[in-house]
This record gives sequence, structure tokens and C-alpha cells, in this order.
Amino acid sequence: MEPVRLGVIGCGVIGKKHMDSAAGADHIDLVAAADLVEANRVEAAEKFRPRRVYASAEELLADGEVEAVVLALPTMVRTKLALAALSKGKHVLLEKPAAMNAADLRRIMAARGKLTVGCCSSRPQFKAHVPIVKELIASGRLGQIRELHVRCLGGCGAKPAKPGPAWRLRRDLNGGGILVNWGCYDLDYLMGLTGWTLRPRVVLAQAWAAPPAFARHIDPTSDAETHFTALVRCEGGEAISIERGEFTATGKQNGWQIVGDAGSLDLTMVSDDPIRITHYAADAEKGATERVIYDATEGWGEMHAGPVRDFAAAIRQGREPLTGLERSLTLQRLTDAIYESARSGSAVTIG
Ligand SMILES: NC(=O)c1ccc[n+]([C@@H]2O[C@H](COP(=O)([O-])OP(=O)(O)OC[C@H]3O[C@@H](n4cnc5c(N)ncnc54)[C@H](O)[C@@H]3O)[C@@H](O)[C@H]2O)c1
Repeated sequence: MEPVRLGVIGCGVIGKKHMDSAAGADHIDLVAAADLVEANRVEAAEKFRPRRVYASAEELLADGEVEAVVLALPTMVRTKLALAALSKGKHVLLEKPAAMNAADLRRIMAARGKLTVGCCSSRPQFKAHVPIVKELIASGRLGQIRELHVRCLGGCGAKPAKPGPAWRLRRDLNGGGILVNWGCYDLDYLMGLTGWTLRPRVVLAQAWAAPPAFARHIDPTSDAETHFTALVRCEGGEAISIERGEFTATGKQNGWQIVGDAGSLDLTMVSDDPIRITHYAADAEKGATERVIYDATEGWGEMHAGPVRDFAAAIRQGREPLTGLERSLTLQRLTDAIYESARSGSAVTIG
């Protein structure tokens, strides 16, 4: 396979992970990197040795050798850069969330032509346990799917010396807070495990800012939610119940579950501890029987390497990346509906 000639725009925390993953892959040639901040450019040049380093995204996009770009910078600048990259005939990998809203994503869809566009919300799909779980669900052993459930509350540690970056909890820079930072992974994971068959239709949600006691744990300009909950009814009668929170006045709690009428799965999407997956099967005589089907420690490496390596392979193989634009639009429309419901206090229908 001829290596894909890649440029990475944004050499911050996640841009460096992409460059590391690109540098370690035979099917990717890291041609260029760009960042507005000199220190980040210097570090990227020293560590990952792209052939050229630019001080702006525009300069990198003008590099004719670059055929595909990763947009590893905050959400509010990505759509503009994605459209500029597509207009120059370059494939695009979007960091997550895919866009500020569905309208922006539709603009990217309209401009993509035959180019490949993917989104990094796919990250958890590259975990080692995922193919095993997908196969079990595809085999029909859970029966009719009833509910997909997520409840992840981060609790809160001691006040940090310095809060995280401002964009993380800013609606104008990030499109939202914990829902787009982590909820997008939960939704991509559960939708992916069930084969992207669910069609979200009606959403009722609520969202909250950080509790007053933790106001100094976050950037003072933050205006996005740090905690939300949503109930989503899908076309086939399935329900998605999702709650995510950070800076919560709670202990830590992490759980993912898929419940069918013939069985269910207790899952772990990510963890530093071993990932344990339990399958419960409905048995007419014995009741709901329990069996651990997976118990192994998984690193974070495959999550970081997966999106850019899959994106490059998808370009050469002429296929969609694991989370392509149609799937991203499903997630983005659901995201928009959750925010709209939380804002209005009413149920929102996705048309
Ligand atoms: N930090 C993580 O662990 C992580 C993980 C997965 C996804 N992401 C997503 O990736 C995106 C970036 O996150 P990050 O943590 O890498 O942020 P970051 O602040 O560490 O890095 C962003 C980089 O982009 C550069 N930049 C900003 N605007 C630019 C522009 N117009 N042209 C060129 N460079 C520009 C900044 O100088 C900075 O170096 C976010 O949307 C985030 O949700 C982050």
C-alpha cells in the first residue's frame, strides 16, 4: 500500500498522539505538521520528524504533497479548515466532536465529493474487546435490544493547581461540555456495538454546570455542562439512557450496559483496571445466568492509534472510516437534540 502523505494541524495534546501513531505506521508518511504556537511546533519537529513544519494551517493546506489532514485543534475552527482542506482535494480526519452542530457537519458532507472524511469519536471502537462483543450481539444472543445504558460520574479530586484548558467547557469554542468531550465516545461505542442500527427519535434531557463548590476547579470562563442525563427513544422502541458527569459531588461510577430480552452485557468501555465483560443469558429454567466472557487489561494505545491508522487505510482501500460522516451526523443530531431538550425543558423529536 502506498503510504498516505499526511499533515497534522494542531500539535497539542492529541495532535502529538496522532503524529506518534502516524510515525509508527508503515501506511502513513508524516509529511507536515502545523501549529500557531512555536513551542508546540518545535516539540513536534523534534519528536516526530515531519518533513516540514508550518506556523499556520493555511500554509500546510497549500502544501501539494499533503494528501490528507488530521484536524487536531478545538472544534470551533475545524469546519472552516475541513472545508478549506476538501476544496484543495485533501481527505480529512476530524477530531471529536465532529462539528459544533449538525448544520456545520452537513456543510462538510456537501463539500466532500469523493474524498474520505472520518471522525475520531470512533476511538473506543478500536479496543481489543470490541470485535468479541460485536460478534455476540450480531449473533442475536441478546434477543431484541431494549436498552443501552451509560452511567459515568467522575466525582471530583482536590482543587487543581491550574484548571484544564478553557475550550474544554466553553460552548463557543467546543460546542458544549462533557457531552461532546466524553458522551460522544459513549454514544459511538454503543451505536457501533449494535451495528449502527439504532435510529434515535425522541430525546428528553437535563444538564448542569459544575457545582458551586467546584467552580474553581475549572476555567472561570466555562459556560458548558459538566453533567448531563438523557433518555433517548429510538424508532424500534429501544431506549438509550446516558448520564455523564465530571466535577460531581459523588463517588466515581462507571458502567455501560446493553440489555435485550434474551440476555444482556455489562461492559467496560475504558479503564486502567482490567476490562471485564459479563454476559447474562435468559434461561427458562435457571433464570438469568451469568458468565464472564472477557477479562483483560487493555492499554490506551490502540484507542489513540486507531482513528488515524483506520483513516489512512480507508483512503487507500476506498472505504468509509469506522466512523464516517453519515454516522457522525447521527451522533451530532442526537447531541444537538440533547442540548436543545436540556435548554428548553421539553422533549425534542429528531425528524
Ligand atoms: N486532550 C485529549 O486527551 C483529547 C483526546 C481526544 C480528543 N481531543 C480533541 O482534540 C481537540 C484538541 O484537543 P487538544 O487536547 O489536543 O488541545 P490542545 O489545546 O492541547 O491543542 C490544540 C493545538 O491546536 C493549536 N491551534 C489552535 N488553533 C489553531 C489554528 N487555527 N491553526 C493551527 N494550530 C492551532 C494550538 O496552538 C494547540 O497546540 C479537541 O477538540 C479535543 O476534544 C482531545
